[in-house]
Amino acid sequence: MASSDIEARTKRQRDRKTMTAPIVVDRIETLRAQVARWRAEGHKIGLVPTMGALHQGHVSLVEEARKHAARIIVTIFVNPAQFGPSEDFGKYPRTLEADVEKLATVGADLCFAPPVDEIYPKGFSTRVEMSGPARAELEDSFRPSHFSGVATIVAKLLNQAQADVAVFGEKDYQQLLAIRRLARDLDIPTQIRAAPTLREPDGLAMSSRNVYLSSEERRVAPALYGALREAARRIRAGEGLGAALDWGRATIAEAGFAIDYVEIRHADTLARVKNSHDGPLRLLAAAKLGSTRLIDNIAV
Ligand code: PAF
Repeated sequence: MASSDIEARTKRQRDRKTMTAPIVVDRIETLRAQVARWRAEGHKIGLVPTMGALHQGHVSLVEEARKHAARIIVTIFVNPAQFGPSEDFGKYPRTLEADVEKLATVGADLCFAPPVDEIYPKGFSTRVEMSGPARAELEDSFRPSHFSGVATIVAKLLNQAQADVAVFGEKDYQQLLAIRRLARDLDIPTQIRAAPTLREPDGLAMSSRNVYLSSEERRVAPALYGALREAARRIRAGEGLGAALDWGRATIAEAGFAIDYVEIRHADTLARVKNSHDGPLRLLAAAKLGSTRLIDNIAV
């Protein structure tokens, strides 16, 4: 490790020791008042929207936000509007106390954890509908109302926080592109930044839903990433897209997954591509292991 890297890491560790717990607020008005104070003090503000059950992947989003802003807001809200009727809204892990403790170690300044009726009060009648990357026939084919739920909550959170920068993970790649489009289309001045997917040592993408996996499923789960990596390698080595995708699909199915999709798309638009020169390319997959649905994606 270069000495500048060691110095930076030591400084981060020293900083962490002196970090204090974030202010926890559950009202939009309180959030806005704090943001106004920080603005008056001349601080840049970063936003990291989450649904809680925080893991190292979320920590890396906060760390990315800290590179661009002096004050960091992390939102924790399990958004009912983005779950389909047969999805896991009810059982989605809710671990606010542990989340706040984790945020204290990474230097988040404020945790906004509103109740549902603060976000969707009685009479709430608005929903943001999107096309473009939100209708790319990937996640949207299997979760038809998902992105309108995501777009609605993200538009609200961006409005509420008025941050300079907001960070989203590449793990939800279609979501990331949809949110970039949303911010552009609605003239929301917050800069949308991407942070790379964090992985367990065996390659499994970190996700709050990984806790649903049985120990046997957890053993098999990294095969999804393994197959994407090998398919990407094959494409880079000159194999045709169709053949590489067929190989990827067969390998993922053989490992025990029920595939929703394994697709290759243009990395900026999610448009379909015919050959590897139509790039930059992104490989994206969603598949179920038992009742747990995993998604992953990689650059080619
Ligand atoms: O990626 C997530 O955790 C959620 O979809 C988000 C962006 C926080 C909106 O609820």
